[in-house]
Amino acid sequence: MLAMNYRGPYRVRAAHKAEPEIEHPNDAIVRVTRACICGSDLHLYHGLIPDTRIGTTFGHEFTGIVEEVGPSVRNLKKGDRVLVPFNIFCGTCFFCRRELFSNCHNTNPEATAVGAIFGYSHTSGGYDGGQAEFVRVPFADIGPTLLPADMDEDDAVLLTDAFPTGYQAAEMGGIQEGDTVVVFGAGPVGIFAAKSAWLLGAGRVIVVDHVEYRLDFVRDFAQCETVDFKSVGDMAMHLKKMTGGLGPDICIDCVGAEAAGNFAQTLTGVKLKLQGGAATALHWAINAVRKGGTVSVVGVYGPTFSAVPFGNAVNKGLTLRMNQASVKRHLPRLIEHIQAGRIAPRKVITHRFALEDVADAYHIFSSKLDHCIKPVLLPAGA
Ligand SMILES: NC(=O)c1ccc[n+]([C@@H]2O[C@H](COP(=O)([O-])OP(=O)(O)OC[C@H]3O[C@@H](n4cnc5c(N)ncnc54)[C@H](O)[C@@H]3O)[C@@H](O)[C@H]2O)c1
Ligand SMILES: [Zn+2]
Ligand SMILES: [Zn+2]
Repeated sequence: MLAMNYRGPYRVRAAHKAEPEIEHPNDAIVRVTRACICGSDLHLYHGLIPDTRIGTTFGHEFTGIVEEVGPSVRNLKKGDRVLVPFNIFCGTCFFCRRELFSNCHNTNPEATAVGAIFGYSHTSGGYDGGQAEFVRVPFADIGPTLLPADMDEDDAVLLTDAFPTGYQAAEMGGIQEGDTVVVFGAGPVGIFAAKSAWLLGAGRVIVVDHVEYRLDFVRDFAQCETVDFKSVGDMAMHLKKMTGGLGPDICIDCVGAEAAGNFAQTLTGVKLKLQGGAATALHWAINAVRKGGTVSVVGVYGPTFSAVPFGNAVNKGLTLRMNQASVKRHLPRLIEHIQAGRIAPRKVITHRFALEDVADAYHIFSSKLDHCIKPVLLPAGA
């Protein structure tokens, strides 16, 4: 089959590899019909995630049609249309029982922090991902969700990660009616966090980025105010001035390890790898949020320490919430929002590429060319 193939930092291509097979009785094989590229894939593409092995296939946001199921699978059958959450989780461990699916204890032998993720290096379990014609889906009775008959597949593929992650980011903010919410990052995750903040009762939503076309997009999609950080000297002061002097109630980090905007952070976090990424947005979030406010983090950071003003967080009495999203937990509510017409996630998809053009897709998304927000890969015959 044809599959995305990692060759080293900034080098990916479409190549032929063996089709996946049922390895465990509860596996399914899914024929992929849509596979997005995520901002998280860019951390892999840029060589920042440890133990990303040559020859592996990325892709944790995909929909498809069930091709084959193992003998113990009860909830799926050949021909079913499914969306597959990016987390691989067992459904029964201590963490899964508390709906912390992203922290499943049984699916990632390489780590005790994060659970397993499709196509996200051996640090996240070493499972091949869905940027391919076929993908093996472990725990097939647990993760995959049947597509409602009336659901557009472009909406569905955004339910595998970007929308639920943005939603969980807003939810972890603990938004009270009328709160002011600042979202750092106008990528797909930040865009959905901004929209979700309204759905959860925010009274004012402000999004920060430095890519103009993304700020234009989010203003239109999420009816929010925007700040271009290139034009701001001191971010904390600027946001305090915008919010009556106290600072926003909630700050959300949808940027993570590759943040721009601070030379020392980029040098130590991205270039020299002396910390778990550039913590610029997180630093701004902690300093800008009002005393007693909440900082919610879904941006991804490496496992080592991050240079953030922790003392300020203590002295301001902040609540810090964070995690990888537990996608499946949010699906019933988010499907309802889509069906009720309150959100059309598919609008963030700006680019479609044949799977064989995966190298172009990564390059254009990574370099923010051609006003790209979210690219989707289409295997032949999809
Ligand atoms: N926790 C989870 O479950 C989860 C799931 C998906 C993605 N993520 C992470 O969320 C982050 C965003 O994902 P995405 O797909 O939207 O990525 P993306 O790369 O498309 O978007 C990131 C945006 O942040 C902007 N940015 C850079 N520096 C900034 C700064 N200092 N302040 C404000 N904005 C800044 C960039 O210009 C870009 O538009 C990534 O770190 C990704 O790995 C986490
Ligand atoms: Zn993702
Ligand atoms: Zn589990």
